[in-house]
Amino acid sequence: MPQDVLQDILVRRGFLCPSYEVYGGVSGFYDYAPLGGMLKRNIENLWRRFFVVEEGFFEVDTPTIAPEQVFVASGHVENFADPVVSCRKCGTTYRADHFLQEKLGAENLSPEPEVLQRLIEERGVRCNCGGELGEVRRSSLMFSTTIGAGGRRGYLRPETAQGMFVMFPRLYSFYRKKLPFGVVQIGRAYRNEISPRQGLLRLREFTQAEAEIFVDPEEKRVHPGFGRYAGERLRLVPRSGEVLELSAKEAVERGILPHEFLAYYMAHTRRFLMEVGIPGERIRFRQHLKDEMAHYAEDCWDAEVLTKRYGWVEVVGIADRTDYDLRAHESLSGVEMRAFRQFREAVTKRVMRLVPNMQVLGPEFRGLAPRIAEAVEKLPEEAAEEFERTGRVEVDVEGEKVVLGERHLRVERVELRQTGEKFTPHVIEPSFGIDRILYAVLECALAEREGKRVLRLRPQVAPVKAAVFPLVSREELEEVALEVFREIKSQGMPAVYDASDSIGRRYARVDEIGVPFAVTVDFESLENGTVTLRHRDTAEQVRVGAKEVPGLIRRLCEGMSWDELREKLAAAP
Ligand code: GLY
Repeated sequence: MPQDVLQDILVRRGFLCPSYEVYGGVSGFYDYAPLGGMLKRNIENLWRRFFVVEEGFFEVDTPTIAPEQVFVASGHVENFADPVVSCRKCGTTYRADHFLQEKLGAENLSPEPEVLQRLIEERGVRCNCGGELGEVRRSSLMFSTTIGAGGRRGYLRPETAQGMFVMFPRLYSFYRKKLPFGVVQIGRAYRNEISPRQGLLRLREFTQAEAEIFVDPEEKRVHPGFGRYAGERLRLVPRSGEVLELSAKEAVERGILPHEFLAYYMAHTRRFLMEVGIPGERIRFRQHLKDEMAHYAEDCWDAEVLTKRYGWVEVVGIADRTDYDLRAHESLSGVEMRAFRQFREAVTKRVMRLVPNMQVLGPEFRGLAPRIAEAVEKLPEEAAEEFERTGRVEVDVEGEKVVLGERHLRVERVELRQTGEKFTPHVIEPSFGIDRILYAVLECALAEREGKRVLRLRPQVAPVKAAVFPLVSREELEEVALEVFREIKSQGMPAVYDASDSIGRRYARVDEIGVPFAVTVDFESLENGTVTLRHRDTAEQVRVGAKEVPGLIRRLCEGMSWDELREKLAAAP
């Protein structure tokens, strides 16, 4: 089936349309039209089932705009940029690595400007207009803005994650100071892509569903629930490029995956993708190459889906972000972002500490002396060691640096009983691109039967769960049909009612938008209170009681298969 068939259905039947169409559109922005909006919500709600309900993680909702410090600390201001190159003749600007990939038929080019510059020179690459290309440079992917009239610089978030990291001290208390714990967020993120041309795959405003799992680095090797997924088969493409089919357990044992936490969330991701309708054989996990990895990641595996139109497409990134983000925010904000690890047994340690000499500090620093003393008491042991070596130490008091010498302080050695220690948690992050998943779901669902299009969306995600039709437009049939229609909706399922056109055309209309079940009220319904229930994927029909049909559709939408329904009906007296 030609690919623009999907595009045609999506636009014509109300799933998607380019944003700001009446003004000629702006690339990188898409509107979810009525059915697309509902499909997206259903995918998000299924994700919540996997990550909020099953994993027991709570969901937060943080602002999409953040002050500059957040992204200075996170490293995005410095690192979050794509290589671009402009034509000296026509002025067109390209994303340099993508442009060269297209021009040279290469794959996975390094995004490093120097590497790309060299390629342009060595291979004599020119603009499509024939003009000479300029220097490859880096262009920030963040949209900047100003907060308030005073003009404080801010950015639209390029990932939902940072809102969760900066909340860490509150989350740690909320989870009663016990690791591991997870927190999730579904929301918009923004990236000012250079030249987005791949529909839903490269949007400037998109939806992420992210989970941040905070874990003690000493306990990362073992996930408490790993047994559930130990035998799950994963198709893996590690950096070496070979394709391996291994169970999650084998992948960890052979060192292909670094620890059970990463393996667990890869398997969980695979199950989720299958639940939304992506066949397992179209899913693989590819490890990021070293120079492809985000600045914060120690390891990252993308869940990729094989699409007809674009080949393998990344839809989820599962990264080990280590303690990168929490350390960075602690360092810039000055607020502690640590957890406490209890020792199995208390230990006694001999430590050095600095003791302020108030008789000297008082007269010399007057009102500031108590705050200096407080700052000295908070200094780590290394400061006492340094003081012993150099005879001086510097403290920060109300933004001022105060240098103290031997007359102000003395070193004391004490025995301390320690029951535990502080550390910075590590973060494992499965990050889902909802728009890309939605595209993959639609592509996988599109099929053809007898020359007609059928969108085989799984009932769990289909925007409309049932269609109700009177066989012909007669008052007594419509009365029963409307009653069934009302009852389906009152059980929480969106449904449509249609009494116009031939029944064949009505089935075709709802097949094309993925409605999984259709109920038809006919003349037999008036005699014995039964209706036909039609299954979209097989076009099979069964007769069931009009009163039972809403409950049966609900169970079918919750996971009962059509075959199970048929067996149930066959077994009924
Ligand atoms: N949080 C991962 C990403 O935005 O790519």
